[in-house]
Amino acid sequence: MLVLGVESSCDDTAAAVVSDGRRILSNIVSSQISVHREYGGVVPELASRHHIRNIIPVVSEALDKAEVGLEDIDAFAATRGPGLIGSLLVGLSFVKAVSYAVRKPFVAINHLEAHIHSVLIENEGVEFPALALVVSGGHTSLFYLPEPFRYRLLGRTRDDAAGEAFDKVAKLLSLGYPGGPIIERLAEGARGDIPFPIAKISDGSLDFSFSGLKTAVLRYVKKGMPDEERDVWLKNIAASFQEAVSTAICDKLKRAARFYNPRSILISGGVSCNRYLRKRITSAFKGKRVKVYFPSPELSTDNGAMVASLAYFKLIRGKASSLSVDADADLTLAEGEGEG
Ligand code: KG4
Ligand code: ZN
Repeated sequence: MLVLGVESSCDDTAAAVVSDGRRILSNIVSSQISVHREYGGVVPELASRHHIRNIIPVVSEALDKAEVGLEDIDAFAATRGPGLIGSLLVGLSFVKAVSYAVRKPFVAINHLEAHIHSVLIENEGVEFPALALVVSGGHTSLFYLPEPFRYRLLGRTRDDAAGEAFDKVAKLLSLGYPGGPIIERLAEGARGDIPFPIAKISDGSLDFSFSGLKTAVLRYVKKGMPDEERDVWLKNIAASFQEAVSTAICDKLKRAARFYNPRSILISGGVSCNRYLRKRITSAFKGKRVKVYFPSPELSTDNGAMVASLAYFKLIRGKASSLSVDADADLTLAEGEGEG
């Protein structure tokens, strides 16, 4: 079964053709980084305008690259939320219209569920129960999955998402956008010995908080550069910040794993590209009975393949969606909802 999946929840217009849920025939992403760079973050109004411009070329390219025509596609899928409402509407409306025109099933996809699913595309033997962490520009959310396709939210960020913190710190250091890859590169080989604070959430929940860390970096930067070269100073800030984010994430994962005793831990979302974070999480669970999984980098950031693949697994369980499904900027993923 061939599924065409479209993702447009934020600033990437993405489309992919996936065969039987696992064979990715094409996975095209048109990034808007150059559009948003000068603002140091995504400008929603510009994002939706660019999605409108990009959607047809991106979908055509996905079909061409997969060497299939529209008539060969068995089902169509698009992200319905959470995300930027204007951006979501472009991809969702386009896909619903095409599915209606060619009279093939349509599947609405939850963006968080798609990120979690991105780990499962390349790994068939994942055992449950599992913990799943989505760390991206818009989300830092931890879920418990007692079995495939069932989700219980354990914790989420109370302020900034981890990727948002990377982006904001890069912006205050005038490093460019998006901040994650730039900070990762800068942090390589640096000391990382500034003791930035790691938020302690006093009620003992598994929630995250990154805005205090961002403020601590700002305060440190305002103190000015000590007697060392600017790039040594910048590298040290980048490495210390990355260290603090990684420690915060590892601490929460370790606590959740002690309590829930999962067989697998699934890490996804743009920030999961970060090699230092991957190393820290991997070593935190080394020698333990739990296996840690990450998606390959092209499936970590927003993409259409995770949408198309998840749609396939929904369709074979009889979960097509109605064309009356609307975009929902605040869509959640809680127990049972992954079934919708
Ligand atoms: O999943 P994604 O493409 O979009 C959202 O759904 O938000 O994630 C984008 C986020 C950005 O904040 C970006 O700075 C961050 O992922 N990111 C990284 C890295 N690559 C991307 N953060 C840390 N290290 C990276 N290597
Ligand atoms: Zn995402």
